[in-house]
Amino acid sequence: VFSGLAPQAPDGLLALIGAYRSDPRPDKLDLGVGVYRDARGRTPVFAAVKAAERLLVEGQDTKAYLGAEGDVGYLEALRPLVFGARAQADVFGVQTPGGTGALRLAAELLAAGRPGAKLFVGAPTWPNHEQIFEAAGVTLATYDYFDAASQTVRFEAMIAALATAAPGDAVLLQGACHNPTGADLTKDQWRTVADLVAERGLFPIIDLAYQGLGRGLEDDALGMRLILAAVPEALVAYSCDKNFGLYRERTGALFAACDHPQRLSKAGSNILALARANWSMPPDHGAAVVRTILSDSDLATMWAAELETMRQRLIDVRAALANHGPDLVALKDQNGLFACLPLTQHQVGRFRDDHAVYLAGSGRINLAGLTVEAVPDFIRAYQTLRQP
Ligand code: LMR
Repeated sequence: VFSGLAPQAPDGLLALIGAYRSDPRPDKLDLGVGVYRDARGRTPVFAAVKAAERLLVEGQDTKAYLGAEGDVGYLEALRPLVFGARAQADVFGVQTPGGTGALRLAAELLAAGRPGAKLFVGAPTWPNHEQIFEAAGVTLATYDYFDAASQTVRFEAMIAALATAAPGDAVLLQGACHNPTGADLTKDQWRTVADLVAERGLFPIIDLAYQGLGRGLEDDALGMRLILAAVPEALVAYSCDKNFGLYRERTGALFAACDHPQRLSKAGSNILALARANWSMPPDHGAAVVRTILSDSDLATMWAAELETMRQRLIDVRAALANHGPDLVALKDQNGLFACLPLTQHQVGRFRDDHAVYLAGSGRINLAGLTVEAVPDFIRAYQTLRQP
């Protein structure tokens, strides 16, 4: 078996973690993988998470299995946060190992429910999106999404591409804090996409992995809710890895939304069967932490305040980049952890070799890796690299 396998290149983004770690230069800068860092470069555990963990250590009296659905209290607690006032009965949820687990289930459900449907993904998008859906046998198509030179969404091109989708095809949309570009749709643009998706009978899959890190908890869910209101059925892949800082605990959920009870129940039974075949039951700890926080008003308030501090810091770094880099003014209108700079692979390599700055090969930077004070040096290096 092993000899029949083709060797696989290591994941480019994850490889950066190791390369950065083994770089001895003291002034090195890690703008690679998407984790939040505070102004001292740390990724601390939220105080609300620590408090919830203390409660769990004291109060949890069994580690017995929960079932393929995972922690039902966690799913219940997430619903109002994610869906607002939408009728609870219209949504089926299952806990998943991170947003990646949710996407994998979404991919398999799409392949099973609509074999042959194409999935339209943004160009660019999170590189793992393509791998996850292709691994489930889904055929991909792309819609133009971003122009790196002007740092703006190529909205007309996006709409033109989606207008070529056949009825029944699917479209993957990122709800907020677009990875890798940071460029999100405006409310009006979301409305236009919602109308188009409904009109053409497309099946939306929305990846919401950064709620609360962009325009705020409610606003980051707005685009997704507009899409859901326009279509008969959709999937939402959700992650708590970033907005609760639970990264390695792998805490996510897949939600199916549909106002037709029989169809929703069919989707639910299939999602549970797929979860059982993939991992049987999701890991418990992260979801138990989120449930504990969201069901305790003091902890929920503490968590929301910590998240808001993170959001504000990202806004400050964006403002500093926009102030110091004349061609980076648009960054202040973008959201979340990422921006995608117009750099070639060669320039990204020189950033690393000459300046000890680590970023993804696509030119994506994680803004949380910068402090406001470090921005002028970063911009100087960036401008040196871009000189012809
Ligand atoms: C990222 O894009 O950096 C994160 O979502 C981490 C990952 O798994 O790629």
